Amino acid sequence: MVKKICGIGAGYVGGPTMAVIALKCPSIEVAVVDISHSRISAWNSDKLPIYEPGLEQVIQQCRGKNLHFSTDVEKHVYEADIIFVNVNTPTKTSGLGAGKAADLTYWESAARVIADVSRSNKIVVEKSTVPVRTAEVIEKILVHNSNGKIKYQILSNPEFLSEGTAMQDLLNPDRVLLGGNDSLEGQEAIQKLKDIYAHWVPQDRIITTNLWSAELSKLADNAFLAQRISSINAMSALCEATGADVSQVSCVLSKNTKLGSKYLNASVGFGGSCFQKDILNLVYICESNGLFEVANYWKEVVKVNDYQKSRFVKKVVTSMFNTVSGKKIAVLGFSFKKDTSDTRKTPAIDVCKGLLADNACLSIYDPRVSEEQIRRDLSMNESHWDHSIQAKSTSFTSAKQVSVFADVYEATKDAHGICVLTEWDEFKTIDYHKVFDSMVKPAFVFDGRNVLDVDKLREIGFIAYSIGKPLNQWVNC
Ligand code: NAD
Ligand code: UGA
Repeated sequence: MVKKICGIGAGYVGGPTMAVIALKCPSIEVAVVDISHSRISAWNSDKLPIYEPGLEQVIQQCRGKNLHFSTDVEKHVYEADIIFVNVNTPTKTSGLGAGKAADLTYWESAARVIADVSRSNKIVVEKSTVPVRTAEVIEKILVHNSNGKIKYQILSNPEFLSEGTAMQDLLNPDRVLLGGNDSLEGQEAIQKLKDIYAHWVPQDRIITTNLWSAELSKLADNAFLAQRISSINAMSALCEATGADVSQVSCVLSKNTKLGSKYLNASVGFGGSCFQKDILNLVYICESNGLFEVANYWKEVVKVNDYQKSRFVKKVVTSMFNTVSGKKIAVLGFSFKKDTSDTRKTPAIDVCKGLLADNACLSIYDPRVSEEQIRRDLSMNESHWDHSIQAKSTSFTSAKQVSVFADVYEATKDAHGICVLTEWDEFKTIDYHKVFDSMVKPAFVFDGRNVLDVDKLREIGFIAYSIGKPLNQWVNC
């Protein structure tokens, strides 16, 4: 019987995932541990370290009962029957495979703690996204660093939640994937993990595979999703050149049951902590296996994403008479998607940096991202974004060029142009008449998420652009 679970890593995955297990399995004690004191104290406070709709309610219901947040990693690892490892696995920034391979430093240090303090058999669950065959490495670390009496079963249970809908995704998942080895002990371990999920997930949504299929399926899943976005974004460029409308093209594709409707929204580019890192990780694995053509294929998905972001910046600059120097551009939305405060790899960073490079003055508004976070992101070296522990705030050199506002009307006042970079619902209901009246003319809007009614904006008087849509000159063709 599983009595105690320990989750190592209290981030975007560890926090919500462990909270849902605690909610659905009241007889199991769940401890979430992290080396970051500030993160743990935030989890124990009224202001949680991450914003996720529905999370606060679950935390309030379980915290202090069967859900505990702690920095005492050793104690909770020692006591646990099952250990979920939810640590970050960012892209390596130096050494072999730098810029592509996954950095497993955090995973390795977690494995070493498990080996050091365990005095009873443990099931160790890979929740983090890792390169295929990581379980083999982890097993070596565990076995070679313990006294040989303790038996470890390593399972792969990759997480498929999306930020912004994490609670829904966890409470009602499309699938739960469990990978383990074929031995009797391996199968028993899988059964124990299955029994936990069976508290709320129907049996037919729990898929079991071998370890390597489970590890690779997670990378494949993200690569396929990102590939769809890069495909539709590539089409958006062609739409703009020909007078086709990318929303109409998406709509046609979405009705093809072989394709389906999701992940066909053209955008300023995909962001988030996982797509780019996981594709690059896949590229590195392919290269390590001598599969250079396959590696190049996946590399292009990331390249098209970079192209989409720079194409957007170019569109803004060329539309505004080839210069934005000294012009005020209001940036609406900074998080990488709506309903999250997460800014890791958000396209807003690259777009803002591109505009700043052309000497624009930015006034930024996001309903959930703090000024401190925005300034940190704009000053940070890209390679540090996912290394939260190493990341040090550096002084932001262009501070004069950037203002951050808590009110959308303040941010847009006296602006020459507006760039919508996140699809927050509230941007649809802004009083654009009022905004237009307060702006410098001609007033431009660049909708990087295709969420605004550009026809209405044009009626008001804006010069409006949206991704992959005909510009005004095509309208009468
Ligand atoms: P995160 O950076 O938000 O959280 C990771 C946490 O682990 C940090 O708080 C860090 O302090 C902690 N940590 C690192 N090393 C530790 C150690 N040795 N002991 C204790 N704590 C340690 O990362 P995340 O977004 O939660 O992602 C975690 C993993 O899950 C990654 O592999 C990611 O690819 C994967 N994933 C993320 C998402 C997502 O939406 N963010 C979705 C699915 C999978
Ligand atoms: C993604 C996957 O969807 C999850 O299945 C996976 O678990 C997770 O990565 C992970 O491994 O971290 P997430 O990054 O949280 O989830 O968010 P998504 O909803 O997938 O959006 C990613 C980016 O793509 C966002 O910037 C979003 O705006 C963009 N996007 C998404 C588009 O531009 N168009 C679309 O049609 C969909």
